[in-house]
Order: sequence, then C-alpha cells, then structure tokens
Amino acid sequence: MSTNNENKSYQVNTYKRNEVEFVKGEGVYLFDKSGNKYLDFLCGIAVTGLGHKNKKLINAAVTQIDNLWHVSNLFTSTPQENLAKKLCEKSGLDKVFFCNTGTEANEAAIKFARKFGKGKSNIITTNGGFHGRTYGSLSASAQEKLWEGFYPLTPGFVNVDYNNIDAIKNAIDENTIAVMLEPIQGENGIVIPSENYLQEVRKVCDENNLLMIMDEIQTGNGRTGKYFAYQHSSIIPDIVTMAKGIANGLPLGAVICSDKVAEAITPGSHGSTFGGNPVSISVANKVVELITPELLDNVNTVGKLFVEKIKSENLSIIKEVRAKGLMIGIEFIESIDVKNLASKLLENKVVVGTAGNNVLRILPPLIVEELHISQFINTFKSVLLIENLITKQSEELCHQN
Ligand SMILES: Cc1ncc(COP(=O)(O)O)c(C=O)c1O
Repeated sequence: MSTNNENKSYQVNTYKRNEVEFVKGEGVYLFDKSGNKYLDFLCGIAVTGLGHKNKKLINAAVTQIDNLWHVSNLFTSTPQENLAKKLCEKSGLDKVFFCNTGTEANEAAIKFARKFGKGKSNIITTNGGFHGRTYGSLSASAQEKLWEGFYPLTPGFVNVDYNNIDAIKNAIDENTIAVMLEPIQGENGIVIPSENYLQEVRKVCDENNLLMIMDEIQTGNGRTGKYFAYQHSSIIPDIVTMAKGIANGLPLGAVICSDKVAEAITPGSHGSTFGGNPVSISVANKVVELITPELLDNVNTVGKLFVEKIKSENLSIIKEVRAKGLMIGIEFIESIDVKNLASKLLENKVVVGTAGNNVLRILPPLIVEELHISQFINTFKSVLLIENLITKQSEELCHQN
C-alpha cells in the first residue's frame, strides 16, 4: 500500500496486501467493492471449505450469538463437549483441547508432548515444514527465511529432511520425545511424501516410544478427500493439530490426542481465554456435520478432474502438478514468475495463492463443481496466452495430440 498520507495504512506491514478489497462472498465466489465477481480458489488459505454465506453455518453462528457469545472455560459447555466427541470419533483419538489458531494448536501440542515426556524434550521436525509464527511453532518450522531477525529460537527441535525415514531414525537420541510433521507440506509448495512414509514414521515412533504429532492444520477438515490426510495412510497419530477450515473462517483451533498424552495434562497446565469460543464451536459443530462422505467423494472426484484437465493441456511451462483431493500445487519452470501469474489471475477474477518453490497453490472450496474447474482452466489458459507464456499454436498443437 502507498505511503502517501491519503492511503496510509495504520497496520503493521506484515502482509504484502493486494489492492483488491472483497466485501461479499457467496458459495465459491467473492465480490469486490465494485461488484466484480471472482472465483475463490484459495478459500482464505484452506479455510472456507464450505464456501461463503452457507445458510446453515450462518444460522448456527447467529443462534449462538443471540444466546451467549463468550463464557470462561472454567464452566461446562455442551457444544464444546459435542464437538470434542465428534473430533475424537473422526480422528480415532480420545481427548480434545480447544484454542483459536493453528499456531496455538501446535504450541499446545509441543507443550503436551514435553509434559508427557517427563524431562525428555527434543522434537524431530522436518525441513521445509510450517507450523506457525509463535516461538515454539516457529522454531519447529525448519525454514531459515522464517527465522531471520527473530533469534534466539526455542531450543529442542531437531530438523531432518522430509520424506526420509532414515533421517528421522538417525536423529533419535535419549532426549527425543516426538516427531512432528505435516502429512503434506503445504506452505512448502504442496510437497507430497512417498506413499508409505507416514506409515514408516508411525512404525519408528512405536519402536522408539515417541509421540507422532501430525499437523493437519492445512490438510484437515476434508481438504485432501479424507477428513484427515493421515487417514490415506491408515495410521493414527498420538497428537493431531487442526484449525483453518474447522469453523469455516471463525477462529478455532484444536489439539486431539490419545488418552496417554491427555493424562499428562492437569488443570493449570495449559489454557486459553478465548479457546473454544461458543460461536466458533457452534459453527464447527455444523461444519463437521456438513463434511459428509458424499462431500469427501466430491473432493476426490473434482480434485482428480482438475489434475486431469491441467495435465491434458501438456503445457511445457509446467514442471509438475501435485495434488491430493483439493490441495493442489502446480510447479512451474524457473523462468515463470508465479507470483506475477497469481496477480494476473486475480486481475482476471480468479483468486489463487503461491507457495514454496514457484508453485501456484490452488485450494478450491470442497463444494466446487466441474463447471468451476472449467471456468478456472479457461481463465488460466487465456492468462497464459495474454502473458505470452504459451502461444496459440502450441496450445492448438497440444489439443491435436
Ligand atoms: C500446516 C500449518 N500449520 C500451522 C499453521 C499456522 O496456522 P495459523 O496461521 O492459524 O496460526 C499453518 C498456516 O498456514 C499451516 O499451514
């Protein structure tokens, strides 16, 4: 944003904000101040999975606001209990702690693991991982660019390469208590590990009495076509952290853990004034209900269709398409400026993000349909043509092949 007085921003410069201002949303679409309609294929970075202005979610929020919008966690809350039960049933775990955000969920997970460890404190984390911005989760996010200017970090994190089981085995010592990782690295550019990696991590954790902490903040809530991404690998972690899509845009985070971990936590060990706010919780209770097996089928079907359509274009500027359900990354060759491409798509009324190494990050709502995918592909191709990134002939040639 410009610094002349008229346009001066009073907010700290933590985001490179776009000038577009969205004022309304409906289903898979967003609308700006001038009434322009945009296809929302970013979902507030994997948050509004059920789309905008969902009537059932609005009703849940409004009813709760009308009754009670805050009460201390020192009192019983049936909506919290109901949601905790649902999350335990979904995850295969036993107990839940509610907070407000992803980074807070990971802070709690780190504390729970260390309390459980009774003096053992080291947590193995993976290079390129992202777990949040507060000190514990920042220190667990093994990316130097995130750390610059913020040293000293919190000690006790041992970083190893992602998707390398031997690296984990070699990093274990008598002070290790847990392995913490994402089932798919989101911020690192939708990096999907080999098929049996998570199973191998589970096995190594079992053999060495380590806790497996799974950060499902971006991958959870149906994003990859299962409620949790680890369910593609038929394993159950000891601790699962979630946030983002859990209340479709209202602030809520959760840590789900096994009884053995929960037993280490006693009143006063941890807490949050706002954690599990009644309005967020009421909406989340509805969100969990609305992420049905049919919706998850849609995520898988439409996600596959998206990948097929993109691949069938045979575009030489694309290095790789990586996807699980509707968590999609398109990696471009180095000469393509992916940030510029995302801005051009925005100019053409499609909202996407970027991540990792030259990757266009595409996170459509779980309710997306084939027609929206076609709309995306058409706009995507016309932007590539306008920007001279592909030529008309090469495009026609691809279609003849
Ligand atoms: C995997 C993962 N963990 C943690 C976080 C941090 O979540 P929050 O921004 O809600 O603190 C994010 C956010 O992008 C994430 O993708």
